[in-house]
Amino acid sequence: MDVTTPPYVFGERADARREQARCLSAAYDPLTIEGLVATGVGDGWRCLELGAGGGSIARWLAERTAPSGWVLATDLRPDEEVQAPGLSWARHDVVTDPLPPSTFDLVHARLVLRHLPQRQSVLTKLAESLVPGGWLQLDEFDTSYGHCLRASTSDAAALYQRFLDAVATVMNRAGADRTWGRRAAAALTEAGFTEVGVRPSLEVWTADSPGLRLLVHHTDHLRDELLAAGLTERQLGEVRAVMTDPRFLAVSCPMYVVHGRRR
Ligand SMILES: C[S@@+](CC[C@H](N)C(=O)[O-])C[C@H]1O[C@@H](n2cnc3c(N)ncnc32)[C@H](O)[C@@H]1O
Repeated sequence: MDVTTPPYVFGERADARREQARCLSAAYDPLTIEGLVATGVGDGWRCLELGAGGGSIARWLAERTAPSGWVLATDLRPDEEVQAPGLSWARHDVVTDPLPPSTFDLVHARLVLRHLPQRQSVLTKLAESLVPGGWLQLDEFDTSYGHCLRASTSDAAALYQRFLDAVATVMNRAGADRTWGRRAAAALTEAGFTEVGVRPSLEVWTADSPGLRLLVHHTDHLRDELLAAGLTERQLGEVRAVMTDPRFLAVSCPMYVVHGRRR
C-alpha cells in the first residue's frame, strides 16, 4: 500500500462490519438493484462486485447471471460466508492490485471509491477491466447534505448536527471524499465513460430507518475516531438516544446511483 494512504476507516472488527453490512443492505439494496436491473444484467454476464462487504449484492448478481454468468466479489477483507453458484471471492486491494483487462460486462461498487484518495486512477483501472460497451455502476453518498427535521429539543437537534460534523472530520482524516457522490458523474466522463447517467435519491429517516441505524452504528464502529474528533463518551450515548427517539426525523444524505459505459 502507498505509505501516504490512511488505512480504511472502518477497520478490522468483524462484528461491527457485519452489522454495518446488515444496515447497508437493508437501506440501499433496493436502490442498487433498481440501477443494476437498468443495465440489463442477466444470464451470462461476467461481473465484478468491488468492495463487496457483506456480499448481499454479489449474491443477487450471481442469481441474476445464472446459469452461465459469474461474479467475482473482491474486498480488502472478503466475507466468504456468502456463497452462491457462480460466485467466487478474492482478497484484493483495488488501489494496488491489478484487475484483468477487458473481462467484465458489469462492474459495481457501492460506497467504496469515496474512501479511496486514488479514486480517479481507480476509475481508469475499472474502465480497463470492462469489455467495450460494459457497464460501470457506482452508488455513492454526498454526506455534506443531511439535516435534522424534528427532535425532542433544540439541544437534541444541535447534538445530531455536532455528531454529523464529527463523522465528517473522521472521514476527512481518513482520506474519504464526502462529496464524491455528486462529483462521480463528472469523474466518469473524465475517465472516458459514455452514456453517463445519474439517479439521486433522498429519504426521510425515522428511528427505525436502516439508513439512520447505520449512523447509530457509527457511534460504536467509529467510537475511538469520534472521541479523537472531539465528541465525548457521554455525547455518543446522548446522540444514540436522540437518533432512536420515535420523535426524531431527519432528511438523509443523497445517494447517487451513477452509470457509465466503456467506449
Ligand atoms: C462502506 S463498505 C461498503 C460495502 C458494500 N459495498 C456495501 O455497500 O454493502 C466499503 C467496502 O470497501 C472495502 N474497501 C475499502 N478499501 C478498499 C480497497 N482499497 N480495495 C477493495 N475494497 C476496499 C471495505 O473493506 C468495505 O467492505
